[in-house]
Amino acid sequence: MHHLDIAGLEASYGLVPVLSGINLSVARGDVIGLIGPSGSGKSTILRVLMGLTALKAGTVRLDGEAVDYSRAQDLRRLRDRVAIVFQQYNLFQNMTALENVTIAPVKIKKRSKAEVDAEARALLAKVGLGDKLDRYPDELSGGQQQRVAIARALALQPEILLLDEITAALDPELVSEVLDTIRVLAREGMTMLIVSHEMGFIREVSSRVAFLAGGKIVEMGDPTSIFDAPREERTRDFVSKILRH
Ligand SMILES: Nc1ncnc2c1ncn2[C@@H]1O[C@H](COP(=O)(O)OP(=O)(O)OP(=O)(O)O)[C@@H](O)[C@H]1O
Ligand SMILES: [Mg+2]
Repeated sequence: MHHLDIAGLEASYGLVPVLSGINLSVARGDVIGLIGPSGSGKSTILRVLMGLTALKAGTVRLDGEAVDYSRAQDLRRLRDRVAIVFQQYNLFQNMTALENVTIAPVKIKKRSKAEVDAEARALLAKVGLGDKLDRYPDELSGGQQQRVAIARALALQPEILLLDEITAALDPELVSEVLDTIRVLAREGMTMLIVSHEMGFIREVSSRVAFLAGGKIVEMGDPTSIFDAPREERTRDFVSKILRH
């Protein structure tokens, strides 16, 4: 059984179709790299999965169980299991790093403050911020803030992590520290869907790569086949343009 199964997924903004016929089966511990030109639908896939954008057709299954996005209960359950980190880290500016990480598990999940606090300290240490627990977002660099955002997502104890261009807003010298954090998660077997323009990283960390164009998965394969021997013209075109940069 797949950890996550997406079948025949369609989505549109108003009358404009944005995703058509997306099929993706993700095994436990898979790291799926989603690449493709701007506007190809990468973010929309992640948004639909989280229930932030409505799906028009298709099914999403978690461990074989279909998610009914119109049911609040299903949505809650889904968000218990799947977490997303965006490019804009959206931290609470009036809270310290530690408070940003503990707030949701304590307030929303009603978990014990002491237990969550201990976990949050460990998570912040894991992302390399063990000495920044009491810093406010505006006292942290972009890369550090993004790592707080990752720790915050992990504090929800997700099984699946969706990452949307989480290094895109960062200065180049801050990118590597965030990518290091993702490498650790991949090694630990976290199931992830990663949208990124960092092709070297996608290639290294992904078990499979999906190339999207025009709201469709044009080609999917292991990183070597996508980057070194793409079958489809559009993939070849994209990869050659990207690698020339
Ligand atoms: N809120 C919205 N309202 C209307 N159209 C939207 C909205 N968000 C996205 N779109 C359109 O949907 C299509 C897919 O957008 P999406 O954000 O999924 O692309 P993407 O692959 O993530 O691109 P990028 O690499 O630029 O982030 C684009 O044509 C975009 O213009
Ligand atoms: Mg996007």
